[in-house]
Amino acid sequence: MTKKLWGGRFGKKTDPLVEEFAKSIQYDSKLAECDLLGSMIHVEILRRAGYLKNAEAAKLNKGLSSIYKSVMACAYKPDSASEDVHTDIQNKLEAKAGALASKLHTARSRNDQVAFSTKLYCKFTLLELEIGVAELISAINESAEKNKAMIIPGFTHMQHAQPVYLKDYLSAYVEMLKRDNRRLSNIFKNIKLTMGAGALAGTPIDAAKYLIKASGYAKDLGASAGEFNINMTANSLDAVSDRDFVIEILNALSMVGMHLARFSEDLIIWSTKEFGFVDIDDAFCTGSSLMPQKKNADVLELVRGYAGRLYGNLVSVLTMMKGLPLTYNRDMQLDKEPLFNSFEIVEGELKVMKGLVETLKFNKARIEEELKDEALYATDLVYYLVNKGAAFKDAHGLIGRLVKYSLDYAIAIKDMTESDLKKFSDKFIKREIVRLFDPKVSVESKKSIKR
Ligand code: ARG
Repeated sequence: MTKKLWGGRFGKKTDPLVEEFAKSIQYDSKLAECDLLGSMIHVEILRRAGYLKNAEAAKLNKGLSSIYKSVMACAYKPDSASEDVHTDIQNKLEAKAGALASKLHTARSRNDQVAFSTKLYCKFTLLELEIGVAELISAINESAEKNKAMIIPGFTHMQHAQPVYLKDYLSAYVEMLKRDNRRLSNIFKNIKLTMGAGALAGTPIDAAKYLIKASGYAKDLGASAGEFNINMTANSLDAVSDRDFVIEILNALSMVGMHLARFSEDLIIWSTKEFGFVDIDDAFCTGSSLMPQKKNADVLELVRGYAGRLYGNLVSVLTMMKGLPLTYNRDMQLDKEPLFNSFEIVEGELKVMKGLVETLKFNKARIEEELKDEALYATDLVYYLVNKGAAFKDAHGLIGRLVKYSLDYAIAIKDMTESDLKKFSDKFIKREIVRLFDPKVSVESKKSIKR
């Protein structure tokens, strides 16, 4: 193990088993960029507070920014023997700035550092994720627009229900994704960056000295820059022991994953030989090692399957947090892997689903065959009678009997004679009825939808 951030009161070396068991460097090195930004801000706070002279602050900043540059150039190599990323960066700074680096830890605890870095990491990643969601929304919208005249059978209980526009079907997923993006954006806004909690009790530095704009240190954050200001710590005990934001993110990501899993399930079903509604591009399918004819929708199956992981990650952090007494406990280190894993899964899903949607082809001829099913128009027949003065419930029962008759005697309603129809209701006029079995007439008769 490399140098630690603690050790003075220990009479013995840490058992190597403990070092291996307790370290988090193998996954928390993802926080390097955010930890470094936090350290640069902390240098400024220490300078304002008089703990660092200007020249000392400049020297520390020089060291920190050279490590920061290596992180941004993907050249940062964490020492796998470090306890965690915060320790690793401190050690790297010592190698550059010598003994002065020890002053960086003035009025600072990893408890606050880890909360700050994780929050900042979440804010950066949420911004990227919102772009990913928006790009998938655009791809779905484009597909809806390309196929805007196409009508498909709509389903409830996986049974033919009523005809609907394919564009409306696809837009249903757009609505879900828009809600997802609103959720992500609200979480982003709710995450308040703070510093000054110390280990749990605060620090001797005046709260006002902590008011710094993180945006001044980070890459260009555009319109969101104001969201990256450092706020005063309202409650230092809460600041070091709050992981609500992690749980909220894991929940929001679970919901994105759930929506994408439902979309995947629809497309899987639609791509089967039995349905044949949709062709998934060869580039987004995989084959079988044994059956040469197979073209499988593995991408969609993985998206469906990953929902389980996303839920698992949420439940894992919820469970990890539920029994923790205030304030920081080491259990909380275990929020990182589920958090990073869920971010990674959803980022990957958004990209691959975008490509898949962009190349998706709908099989008009096959869909039109299904639209011939008279069952899809049974509700329109009910409205037909209602428009002629029948009570809805009576008309519903009557059309139900008509459908049963048609099925029992294998005679299409369209093919029934007017006198056959009149046996059910004298309101029926054959030439009017025949016109109702038209998908376009059916969808256009629905006026309650804002178009
Ligand atoms: N790697 C640790 C974490 O992620 C750092 C905090 C350690 N703090 C402590 N008091 N032992 O939670």
